Amino acid sequence: MQVKFLLVHGPNLDMLGIREPDIYGTDTLEGIQQRVCAYAAGKGVEMDCFQSNHEGALIDCIHAAHAAYDGVVYNPGAHTHYSYALRDAVGSISTPVVEVHLSAVDQREPFRAISVVAPACVAQVKGLGVEGYERAVDILLEGHTARLGEGFEARYPAGNVIVARHE
Ligand code: DQA
Repeated sequence: MQVKFLLVHGPNLDMLGIREPDIYGTDTLEGIQQRVCAYAAGKGVEMDCFQSNHEGALIDCIHAAHAAYDGVVYNPGAHTHYSYALRDAVGSISTPVVEVHLSAVDQREPFRAISVVAPACVAQVKGLGVEGYERAVDILLEGHTARLGEGFEARYPAGNVIVARHE
């Protein structure tokens, strides 16, 4: 059966290429989507893409991924740090979700070190730029189902790639 992943971007990520290039690089969102879809296609995976600046639209999109996709690669943007609604959306579906950040969110302003979304995800990838999305595709292909869970930062060694293990 055809494996299908969904690539989701949250608020302000439509501004990639223009937005703070010293932090996020010069690739546009479209360029990133093309690169990640091509990478996934090389692994036999079909990938759809979605971006929104609106929390409700993102919640609807995550809900719709249930049963429709085999995995979700998700950069929640600033929602990462405060949206319990999106964390609950990720927790509502059984489709595994990998959280990705272009930047090293743990090495920037203190508020960025906290992710309220990641505990519901199977993995968190940060600080690897666009390559991080490709790592997320590989993690999904490995078939992880355990979630990181509350307080994962204290239970896993710090690093750019944190994958949940079954406890
Ligand atoms: C980001 C990091 C977030 O803190 C920020 O709000 C973003 C982008 C990243 O990809 O590095 O919008 O998710």
